[in-house]
Amino acid sequence: MGKLNIVGLGYIGLPTGLMFASNGIDVVGTDLNESLVETLQNKKLTFEEKGLQKLFDKALECGIEFSKKLIKTDRYIITVPTPYIKESKKIEAKYVVSAVSQVLDVCEKGAVVVIESTISPGTIDKFIRPVVEERGFIIGKDIHLAHAPERIIPGNMVFELENNSRTIGADSPEIAEKIKGWYKSFCKGDIVTTNIKTAEMSKVVENTFRDINIAFANELAKICDREGMNVYELINIANKHPRVNILQPGPGVGGHCISVDPWFLVGDYPDIVNIILAARNVNDGMPDYVIGRMGSIMKENNITDISEVGLYGLTYKENVDDLRESPTLQMLERFKKYFVKGINVYDPMVKENKVCGQIQNFDEFIEKSKFIVVLVGHQHLKDNMNVLKDKIILDTRNIIEVGEKVYKL
Ligand SMILES: NC(=O)c1ccc[n+]([C@@H]2O[C@H](COP(=O)([O-])OP(=O)(O)OC[C@H]3O[C@@H](n4cnc5c(N)ncnc54)[C@H](O)[C@@H]3O)[C@@H](O)[C@H]2O)c1
Repeated sequence: MGKLNIVGLGYIGLPTGLMFASNGIDVVGTDLNESLVETLQNKKLTFEEKGLQKLFDKALECGIEFSKKLIKTDRYIITVPTPYIKESKKIEAKYVVSAVSQVLDVCEKGAVVVIESTISPGTIDKFIRPVVEERGFIIGKDIHLAHAPERIIPGNMVFELENNSRTIGADSPEIAEKIKGWYKSFCKGDIVTTNIKTAEMSKVVENTFRDINIAFANELAKICDREGMNVYELINIANKHPRVNILQPGPGVGGHCISVDPWFLVGDYPDIVNIILAARNVNDGMPDYVIGRMGSIMKENNITDISEVGLYGLTYKENVDDLRESPTLQMLERFKKYFVKGINVYDPMVKENKVCGQIQNFDEFIEKSKFIVVLVGHQHLKDNMNVLKDKIILDTRNIIEVGEKVYKL
């Protein structure tokens, strides 16, 4: 077998490539973002993640290479973005189609092309096979297509890469087994093989399941607020039931997965989806709901100056530096609509200023903000709870002890 070419070195492609390389596979990682490739070639990581530096050092020792151009080989794993189209809610397949097309320009005859990006059910049939066939390749002979979706969670990627189970969908059991062999180099979890469409559906369904369950918790938070009840106590009690496991409410859902993938089902099955669409709307409505709560807390405490308000946390979850689709960004978007300026924003994980009002110094943020809205439960805040006393707090992550001026969702 030739080198394994990882195409797309973002949050998924990079750790995956490093994991393969550290476990004895000859890996080259390719990305069309030239500065990203140069950073990696200069032996610097492109994002922060627990355990990634150690894995990077090991992969470098084992000879991983990074390239701006695709090389000719017989195996590729594609990890490029797969957003949804805002109007139709269907998958935006152009990045993955373009990556496959570029692979076809260089690959060896009989190459295996695995799409690891999350794709809507039927994407390989609808978008990839036609492109491959138009180029004169015979699928199953000149080229083999497969789908191996990824389940890792940012913040615990390295552990989960090794320990999660995986799904591999391929056109034939032989190809599925071959790919399973590659992943077995590091994956201690079960590796289930199936057909391509079931693999595509399974990943999207997993994230949709999470979205619906989060929406349920969020809806409970709203009901409890109206009734003056503590939603966390309620969930705690209900979860004592042996077959109940309600998740925690929060300020909304962000990131590149849960807030995106359920839309694929909404876009493709508009006449069937009810719960899935409702859940998306509940979760997408949470930033507005938090803004509403902020308004009433400000009124109750006679705060009229927005520059006395601070948003803690910009990322979509705790202890990562990924901002994509985060509830805080969604809130700031809404504020723009209402011409609100001057709010303070702080996130210890985001070292560059990405939004208006962002402050890099935590002491300054605390000093300026009389009312703090906790939107992300970073460990950093858990380690600095003492600075919050005397503040008015809206704690959307339930990490702060109940107090006179501590409001919960
Ligand atoms: N981030 C997550 O937590 C997560 C988890 C599971 C699955 N996924 C899925 O994995 C896929 C990748 O997500 P991500 O978060 O790593 O995205 P990302 O934006 O962090 O990285 C994608 C990379 O692909 C590169 N790229 C785009 N087109 C290319 C091409 N033709 N050739 C070479 N490089 C190209 C981009 O420059 C970028 O660096 C998506 O489908 C996503 O849904 C993400």
